[in-house]
Amino acid sequence: MKKATILTAAISLLATLASCGNKTPGDYAFEDVPFSVIPYPQSVTLGEGFFELTGADFYVDEALGAEGTDVAGSFSARLAELSGMNGKMTTGAPSSFGRGIRLVKGEAGPSPDAYLLKIDEDGVTVTASCKSGLLNAVHTLAQMLPASYFNPDTRGTRYRVQFAEIQDSPRFSYRGVLIDAGRHFFSAEEIKRCLDVMALYKVNRFHWHLTEDQGWRIEIKKYPRLTEVGSVRKETQVAHWRDSLDHQPYSGYYTQDEIRDVVAYAAERGITVIPEIDLPGHMMSALAAYPELGCTGGPYEVATTWGVKPDVLCVGNEKTFEFLEDVLTEVLDLFPSEYINIGGDECPKVRWEECPRCQARIRELGLRDRNGHTAEQYLQSYVTNRIQKFLASKGRKIIGWEEILEGDLDAGATIMSWRGIEPGIRAAAKGFDAIMAPGYYMYIDRYNSEEWDREPVSIGACLTTEMMYTYEPCEGVAEDAESHIIGVQANLWTEFIGSDEYLEYMLLPRLAALCEVQWEAPGARDWDRFRAALDHSAAIYEAMGYTYCKYTWGTVGMPGYEQPARTPEELEEFLQTRKGPWEMSYEEGKDLIIK
Ligand code: ACM
Ligand code: ZN
Repeated sequence: MKKATILTAAISLLATLASCGNKTPGDYAFEDVPFSVIPYPQSVTLGEGFFELTGADFYVDEALGAEGTDVAGSFSARLAELSGMNGKMTTGAPSSFGRGIRLVKGEAGPSPDAYLLKIDEDGVTVTASCKSGLLNAVHTLAQMLPASYFNPDTRGTRYRVQFAEIQDSPRFSYRGVLIDAGRHFFSAEEIKRCLDVMALYKVNRFHWHLTEDQGWRIEIKKYPRLTEVGSVRKETQVAHWRDSLDHQPYSGYYTQDEIRDVVAYAAERGITVIPEIDLPGHMMSALAAYPELGCTGGPYEVATTWGVKPDVLCVGNEKTFEFLEDVLTEVLDLFPSEYINIGGDECPKVRWEECPRCQARIRELGLRDRNGHTAEQYLQSYVTNRIQKFLASKGRKIIGWEEILEGDLDAGATIMSWRGIEPGIRAAAKGFDAIMAPGYYMYIDRYNSEEWDREPVSIGACLTTEMMYTYEPCEGVAEDAESHIIGVQANLWTEFIGSDEYLEYMLLPRLAALCEVQWEAPGARDWDRFRAALDHSAAIYEAMGYTYCKYTWGTVGMPGYEQPARTPEELEEFLQTRKGPWEMSYEEGKDLIIK
């Protein structure tokens, strides 16, 4: 056994050495990697032998329609690009298929994401009921290949894949990642890079946070000032104290064409993009553009500091609803997603308490303090329910942050639990669908390690890959409510994340841990197996040119980032300001302060 292992290692080393450098077809050696697929499939049986993918013919079950030919087309194009060799593509009935890569329509498990993958002398047979299952199979197959498969510069390379029988299906249908493009803007190209690695890990929802106090990032044709004014702030808070302003104007937004392009790019990779228009709070950028939408009428400015702002939309004003419906109408045209996220978090009620129009609305609706909620909290429910009805009339469903549970929420809404697990448990018990995104386990804006002084500044606290891996999403949920926990999401807020490199550093490799939480059946996670497989993921990150956190491999800090030199006293002060305590407190009429 030991001998075989040494022999295998020696062969693999020789193969690796031989495969270095530029190869041409016919002048190659196969590089084989240990099975390192993340998330680990439900059932894997590896066989003896390999099938060569390069130049293989493709056969697509006609019953799969365009979904089959699309998936086969992009996979065969990638193999051809890498090797310079092209197999032929045939569409027909499975009974007519020859040796090659065969896509067959069939039930593979309880979810549309399920797939069967059989690799033997006859080739690769993928069985799935629809596109998402087919894509998941291709993502598994790709991770079974050497990392050079993912390198855009690889040429003249041939690939083979080990015989195997794999059956796979996810635990949760909603497997999400949020990127906050409001606080910092990331180009459509960078968003696509993030989508590439999400797809690799079978993440199927990209929650795109597009509007914030600090910036409105989506072009809305009917309200041009949202981007002319709302996408620009005059400066940015760069550390944990409010006067740490950089005095540099900051701006950025996505045109509708760019958004369509990103949505299509994501769809090709099996990812649905869910936009978030955060309302009625977190709206300073919209108020700066259209001050008549606020309770006081302004003047307002696009926020330059972090934390929760007291100025929110005036919901006693019918114009606000006209605005929201107009904005959402354009949003619906851009995003085919069934779910639209309408935010609802962190909406202080101080302006509504003083506003004659909001108070008139409260009287008109007969709202009053009851059941531990204020009349103003019921007013927020009125807004949520009214927007939910509007979206339902267009065939869409809402997701909102857990605060939308305060008051009287109409059935049909889905809750995202972020301040802990309790709101998600409570929502599920009440019959609402819930997505778990508790800060302690799922906020990837936190430091990657406890060595704060060696990492670029982040929001605070620490969430290592290993900690994230331990999260059990249904803990505390009653058995009969478990079906309401539809998924898990990691959130990447970007107060301090002002570069593409830093964004990627916060995503990777935590995204790998996340996807196992989202995908694996209860009890199927195994840190040692995952940790070993992570080496192959790291090789893929290198091949794709991502910046990633190497803490799991014993290296602290972001590559290329150096802390400024500090005296011991400065360092002590700096560590205190970074460590927290990360309490949020509210001062009447002022921002919520991060202490
Ligand atoms: C949130 O983190 N404010 C949802
Ligand atoms: Zn008002």
